[in-house]
Amino acid sequence: LVLAVRPASVRELLQQIGKRDREITAVSLAAGIPLRQLRASLGSPVRWARAMPSPVCRIGRGLTAITFSSGFPQSLRAMVKKFFANVGTTLEIPEAKFDAFTVTYSSSHGYHALATLSKAAEQIGLDRKTALAAAAHALGEGVLYWREGDLSLPELLHEAATPGGIAATAMETMDKAGYLDMFNRSLKAGLARAKANAKLNSG
Ligand SMILES: NC(=O)c1ccc[n+]([C@@H]2O[C@H](COP(=O)([O-])OP(=O)(O)OC[C@H]3O[C@@H](n4cnc5c(N)ncnc54)[C@H](OP(=O)(O)O)[C@@H]3O)[C@@H](O)[C@H]2O)c1
Repeated sequence: LVLAVRPASVRELLQQIGKRDREITAVSLAAGIPLRQLRASLGSPVRWARAMPSPVCRIGRGLTAITFSSGFPQSLRAMVKKFFANVGTTLEIPEAKFDAFTVTYSSSHGYHALATLSKAAEQIGLDRKTALAAAAHALGEGVLYWREGDLSLPELLHEAATPGGIAATAMETMDKAGYLDMFNRSLKAGLARAKANAKLNSG
């Protein structure tokens, strides 16, 4: 069973499915809905895992976090991991870190950064196509070089942003404007949203 409805629909759907009396392996993709709520819903023969995939799975480059209920058999753990490995990398993490992972790894961060950087580039005079190409290179190939090259992040930052140069000036301006604080606040807001999802399905 793969549960892939929106968090607000999980409770109703599980009520419709009802208690089960035979063993089932179930994987929930629903953001924020904890294993304890899932376990309580369909009865003890149902073994629950949670997975958090990404739409980037469509091109085989997804990243899927997986967490298992205690007692989930090893052979079935391997089966669930293999299922998601078909569409990218898998990462087993403790459930306590699931919401933090969910709010951090979303491909929306990439799209949002691309949309925002290219919009700002248009505002300083680039046409839309060139602005998107420049912003996509900055974000996409920058990360690719970090992943596939052998330089550390501090080394890459040092190489690309000569002290006192143009890139360093732009970066310092972002930091002074609260770049880290902005991420702190946005991730905390996402975490709060995930906790609200859990409340939707409790009681
Ligand atoms: N979007 C992401 O990037 C992403 C990433 C990781 C995890 N998730 C999780 O995946 C889940 C789905 O998200 P989504 O973005 O794919 O939402 P979505 O586009 O709204 O898709 C929800 C799907 O569930 C179906 N559905 C709703 N109620 C149902 C019911 N009672 N029985 C059977 N099917 C039902 C809907 O069918 P109809 O269209 O016919 O109503 C629709 O196909 C969420 O829990 C979310 O947290 C999403």
